[in-house]
Amino acid sequence: RKKVTIQTLQTMRDTNRPIAMLTAYDYPTGRACDLHGIDITLVGDSLAQVCLGYDSTTSLTLDEMIHHCRAVARGSKNPLLVADMPYGTYHTGGDDTVRNAIRMVREGGVEAVKMEGGSEVVDIIRRLTSFGVPVMGHVGLLPQRHTALSGYRVQGKDARGAVGLVRNALELEKAGVFSIVLEAIPHRLGELITRRLSVPTIGIGAGPYTSGQVLVWDDVMGTWSGHQAKFVRRFADVQSEAKRGVTGYAAAVRERSFPDVEAESYPMDDLEWQQVI
Ligand code: KIV
Ligand code: NA
Repeated sequence: RKKVTIQTLQTMRDTNRPIAMLTAYDYPTGRACDLHGIDITLVGDSLAQVCLGYDSTTSLTLDEMIHHCRAVARGSKNPLLVADMPYGTYHTGGDDTVRNAIRMVREGGVEAVKMEGGSEVVDIIRRLTSFGVPVMGHVGLLPQRHTALSGYRVQGKDARGAVGLVRNALELEKAGVFSIVLEAIPHRLGELITRRLSVPTIGIGAGPYTSGQVLVWDDVMGTWSGHQAKFVRRFADVQSEAKRGVTGYAAAVRERSFPDVEAESYPMDDLEWQQVI
């Protein structure tokens, strides 16, 4: 497999070949995305909930994000490696944002950064792209603003909201994003935005007509069984496997069937042993 570049993604969009993006949070998940044909690996700030046990993405710090980016980067070669700018790291002015984005690239080892928002982030996107830091946009449901949005709800269902989202997406494209994530919007709107833009759109809960799809690793794998959004499809059942592994191991220890003295333990030469006792 060849290295996926921004150009690769643009060609996939232009030739109508769907882009498969998946989140990763550590070395093994980054490795799996790389080995099994993912086009874009995203170190999403969903990291906060699915790996670190926070109750929203707003608790995640830049240092925590960079720590996980480094682990994913060590296992990632071919996919384009993108990471979320954590909450608060791109809101306090241009110089702060540039500094933080450069830390994500230099220390975190990611190739591009993603940020949530519309017209309010275009100035910073222009600035970053002018330095050659590629930026991915994210519109629709913005989890970093769950409080202001009164929860995790579908966006752009009314005409006014929908028109606003189209306008924001166009502004992001003009500012230089190489792609945009569309989260939790009606499928007709996902299709319309995809047709209006010339860069690839990546949907999550945005219907089947976007240039690609993204899901959260833990939702795909079924690592845990919390609330499941309508747009989630579970492709594996890791939770059952984990249960099988943990209960089997603990039971074997308790009944002393593990470890086996021959197959799973080290022998010692009899003559040597005589000198010990
Ligand atoms: O944080 C995340 O995982 C994301 C994707 C699901 C788009 O932003
Ligand atoms: Na995110």
